[in-house]
Amino acid sequence: MNYKRLEPVFFQLDSVDSTNTYAAKLLKEGKPLNGTAVLTKRQILGKGQRGNSWLSDPDLNLTFSVIVYPGISTERVYFLNMVTSLAVLSGISTLSDQVTIKWPNDILVGTKKIAGILIENQFRGEQISSSILGIGVNINQVEFGPGLNATSLKVLTEKDYSIDQIFESIYGHLDFYLNILMEQNFGLLSKLYRERLFGLEQERFFSDSSGRFSGIIKGVDEDGLLMILRKEGLKKYDLKEVRFEL
Ligand code: BTN
Repeated sequence: MNYKRLEPVFFQLDSVDSTNTYAAKLLKEGKPLNGTAVLTKRQILGKGQRGNSWLSDPDLNLTFSVIVYPGISTERVYFLNMVTSLAVLSGISTLSDQVTIKWPNDILVGTKKIAGILIENQFRGEQISSSILGIGVNINQVEFGPGLNATSLKVLTEKDYSIDQIFESIYGHLDFYLNILMEQNFGLLSKLYRERLFGLEQERFFSDSSGRFSGIIKGVDEDGLLMILRKEGLKKYDLKEVRFEL
């Protein structure tokens, strides 16, 4: 398939409840161009994974959502996680080495989270008709609420960063990795994602419905399941089935 470059149409909002929710509204009301992005420096009710909220202090961080029409089948849905994680990682990895991807799509430096991703897909039959790629990156914030295992570029480097420049860098990388997806080069994406997977080939602790256990992370399969080598053998886990400890 011929890849159509992302169209840089940017909605810069002073403040908004959630950029994902705003992007969903745009999709409902019309047909925004592939690449349309909604950005704000003041997100009031940011949404996180598993129904959590995403907290971001005003004017200090990057919060945005990009609308894309990936044209892939639902069974390849996990590749959107890979593409988005790789784009965020590449967008900030010149500023901080040691960035990794914690399955499925948390971006870590060391064991602390520096960015989060929330992807919301719309389906038509067996196809993903559109996707909202929601990205939050901690940039110039230095204090995080108690219990939040978070870090930021400023905490790591003691420097301030231009939020707009980091947006441009991530957006450019998104275009790059989506191109690889459109070329159906699934093998390459899986390889790049695997290379940056947090805890790969390391023994880690997890918990599932039967309790806590240890195992070695062997990678992620083509359906996006986490493969863990346990005493009993290789097991595969879906997102809701396992949590892993940092
Ligand atoms: C997570 O790690 O829990 C996912 C966090 C995703 C946060 C981003 S910020 C921009 C976009 N809009 C939202 O409401 N959420 C995502």
